[in-house]
Amino acid sequence: MAGEAEEQLRAYVEYLRDLGVYDLYRRGEPVAAAVEEPAQQTTTSSAVLEHPAEHRQPEPAPPAAISAPSVPQPLESPIPKPISFNDRAPLPAVRLAAADKPAALTAIQEEIGDCTRCPLAYAGRHKIVFADGDPNARLMFVGEGPGADEDAQGLPFVGKAGQLLNNMIVAMGVKREQVYIANIVKCRPPANRAPEYVEATTCSQFLLKQIDVVQPEVIVALGATAATYLLGVKQSLAGLRGRWHSCRGAKLAVTYHPAFLLRDPRQKAEAWKDLQMVMKEMGLKAPVKN
Ligand code: URA
Repeated sequence: MAGEAEEQLRAYVEYLRDLGVYDLYRRGEPVAAAVEEPAQQTTTSSAVLEHPAEHRQPEPAPPAAISAPSVPQPLESPIPKPISFNDRAPLPAVRLAAADKPAALTAIQEEIGDCTRCPLAYAGRHKIVFADGDPNARLMFVGEGPGADEDAQGLPFVGKAGQLLNNMIVAMGVKREQVYIANIVKCRPPANRAPEYVEATTCSQFLLKQIDVVQPEVIVALGATAATYLLGVKQSLAGLRGRWHSCRGAKLAVTYHPAFLLRDPRQKAEAWKDLQMVMKEMGLKAPVKN
């Protein structure tokens, strides 16, 4: 664990140095542009931004006379509210023909390449998990990020949570091959932690392009991370479920992440209500049980 944490820390420091970001967490005068949120979130990145002394800006000269003991300033969080996928880019002017979608998705995958754009590239990733399913799907599921099984196989939702997602899809009257499945981040976050803001926003530019190619009628956001980044909101799942949102021209529903449902199966009935809302919208019928 210690080795993993160190590796992650190192990756952040290097990433931020590459960006020329050295000073977001300087105590005292906050760096104005970096701060939008109150300092609520204590994240790994906040620890990481305590960078080595040689990279710090010179401290301002101390005042000649100190009249009162200085009060330690709280660390300011640089994590802004995510920008919704709708606000990140204009919608594509033209709808791709079904026959052109596979090549368009391959082009996105090639653009990603052997990606090193964010720290997850250095945090033990084995495979980049692009997506799975029909490039022309009417229905798309978006999860958080690959776990160990997905990282090993290079496919989304193939572990235990994936088995439950498969069951959910079948219960909706469709086959897994008929939907499109992707994640907010394409590389496994260490120890399956939630992706950091910088990871999610760096990576999800590609998810946005994938959505614009597939142009599903309905997107289901699986869990809070997917909902947060797709919709650009920081709200509880309870406040987001049970109603329609919009994302890149598609209707978007929010439901529980299958991994959460594995931990708390009592919530499956609630998730089923969300899926029934989707089925009604899409004219899907649950398969008849024999
Ligand atoms: N959890 C996710 O969010 N995505 C996967 O691909 C697997 C598990």
